[in-house]
Amino acid sequence: MKNIDIVANILVCDYNELTETQKKLVDCAKDACKRAYAPYSQFNVGAAALLDNGEVVSGSNQENAAYPSGTCAERTTLFYAGAKYPDNAVTKLAIAAYKGGEYTTAPTAPCGACRQVILETEHRYNTPIEILLYGKDKIYIINSIESLLPLCFGKTDLE
Ligand code: THU
Repeated sequence: MKNIDIVANILVCDYNELTETQKKLVDCAKDACKRAYAPYSQFNVGAAALLDNGEVVSGSNQENAAYPSGTCAERTTLFYAGAKYPDNAVTKLAIAAYKGGEYTTAPTAPCGACRQVILETEHRYNTPIEILLYGKDKIYIINSIESLLPLCFGKTDLE
C-alpha cells in the first residue's frame, strides 16, 4: 500500500497585483453579476471568459422555480462561448459573486458540475484555462481546472 498526495497550486493575490488583462476580466465577471437572474438564492454570480481570439464572453446564473433547471454563471458563460465561438479556446475564466449588497469577501469557487464543464473546455481545445476567483479580500489564481478536480474523469477515459 502507498499514499498518493495530490497538491493544488493556488496563487493568492490582490486586485492591484493582477495584469491589465486579468483586471479587465475580473471587472467583467463582477459586472456580469448585475445581470444574474437569482430571485431564489439572491446569490448573484458572474463569470467572464477570455478566448484566444481576444473576445470576452460573460454570463451569470439563471435560476428557475424548478430549481435544477437553472444554470450557474460558469456554465452559462462557457456554453455561450462554445456556441458563439466554437473554434476558439478559452484561455482565462474569472468568477465573482455578489450577495446582500456587496461582492463576497472570500473568492467564490465553481461548483462540482461547473468544474466538470471547465475540464471539458480545457480538453476540447487542449488548452489549460487560468481561473481567477474574485473576493474583496483576496483573489485566487489557478492555472488549470485539474488542480480543482483531481482524479478527474475526462474524454480520454472513454477511449
Ligand atoms: N452558482 C453559480 O452560478 N456558480 C457557482 O460556482 C456556485 C453557485 C449559483 C447557482 C445558484 O443560482 C446560486 O449560485 C446559489 O447556489
